[in-house]
Amino acid sequence: MAELSHRALRELIEPFGACDEYFTEMISAKALINRGPFEAWYTDPGPCPQRLVYQVVGSDPEQIAAAVSLLDTQECAGIDLNMGCSAPAIVRTGAGIRWMSSLDRAGALINRVRKQTKRRLSVKLRIGMEDDFEYLVAFCKRLEAEGVERITLHPRTAREKFKRRPRWEYVSRLRSALHIPVAGNGDIANAQELVRRATEGCDAVMVGRLAVRAPWVFALARHLENPGERPPLPKRIDLEELGLRFLELLAQYQPREFHQSRAHRFFTYFCDNFTWATYLKTRLARETGLSALARVLSAYCREHPEERTVALS
Ligand SMILES: Cc1cc2nc3c(=O)[nH]c(=O)nc-3n(C[C@H](O)[C@H](O)[C@H](O)COP(=O)(O)O)c2cc1C
Repeated sequence: MAELSHRALRELIEPFGACDEYFTEMISAKALINRGPFEAWYTDPGPCPQRLVYQVVGSDPEQIAAAVSLLDTQECAGIDLNMGCSAPAIVRTGAGIRWMSSLDRAGALINRVRKQTKRRLSVKLRIGMEDDFEYLVAFCKRLEAEGVERITLHPRTAREKFKRRPRWEYVSRLRSALHIPVAGNGDIANAQELVRRATEGCDAVMVGRLAVRAPWVFALARHLENPGERPPLPKRIDLEELGLRFLELLAQYQPREFHQSRAHRFFTYFCDNFTWATYLKTRLARETGLSALARVLSAYCREHPEERTVALS
C-alpha cells in the first residue's frame, strides 16, 4: 500500500510474528529503471527478504519488463504486477486497473514480463472497470495462460473505490474457474474475520488497512487458529509504545523527505484504535516533525490513560 507498506511497517509487524508474506508499496517501473532518488527505500527488502513480494506499477511494457528484471536479481518471495489501482493519477497514465480494459494488452504484457523472471509472478486486481464476472474470469484465464502464478482479487470495481461491500463470493468463484491460487482481499475487520475468510473459498487472504491499525492481527489470527502454538501473545497491547516505536522505525528506515507523509498516513489508520480518533488525527495532522507527532500521541495517552493499552480480542 502506497506510503504504508514500507520497511518501517514490516519492522513493526514482524516481532508479533505470523505474517506469511509482505507486499511492498507499488514501485513505479519508470522511476526504478531511471534510478530515481528514492528507489532504494521503495525496494528496501528488510527485515525478511525471503517473504517479500515486490509490487510493480506502470503502463509501458518495456519499462515494466526492465523493472522486473532488475527486481529478479533480488531475493524475494515473488514479483507482483499492479492491475488494480484505481487512483485517477495512475489510471490516467494507462497503469493500474487500466490494464483490465484489454485482455490482449494485458496478455502481451504478461508474455513479455514472464521472460524476465523465474520468480513467482502474480497480479493484484479488482473486478474490473465494470461489475462483469464473466469478463473477470476470461481476463484471469488469459493471465494464467501467459504464466501468472497467483491472483489477488479485491472484489470491487474501479469506480467503487472503498464503497459498497467487497463481493467475496467472487473470490471463491474465480478460484473455482482457475488452476492457480487466488487470494482474497477487502475489508477484513479483525482477526476472527481473517481466520474465517482464510477457510472459506480462497487460497490466501491479503490484509491491508487493518495491518496498520492492528499490526498484531496476524499473530492473533494464528493464535485463534491454533491456541497451543507458541510464543504466547501478550494480554494487552501498549498503543502508545507501539505508535512511538513506529515513529522511531520511520526515522531509521525512511528518508527524511518521507517522514511526514508516511507518519500521517500511518496514523490515519492507527488512530482508529482510540475513542477520540478524529480529534487525535486532527491534532497529529497539524504537526510536521516526528518528535512533535510523538509528543501529541503521548499527550493524548496521558489525557486518556484508560486508552493507552488495548486488550487482545
Ligand atoms: C493508502 C492506500 C494505499 C494503497 N496502495 C496500494 C498499492 O500500492 N498497491 C495495491 O495493490 N493496493 C493498494 N491499496 C489497496 C489495498 O491493497 C487493498 O486492496 C484495499 O485497501 C482493500 O483491502 P483492505 O480493506 O484490507 O484495506 C492501497 C490502499 C490504501 C488505503
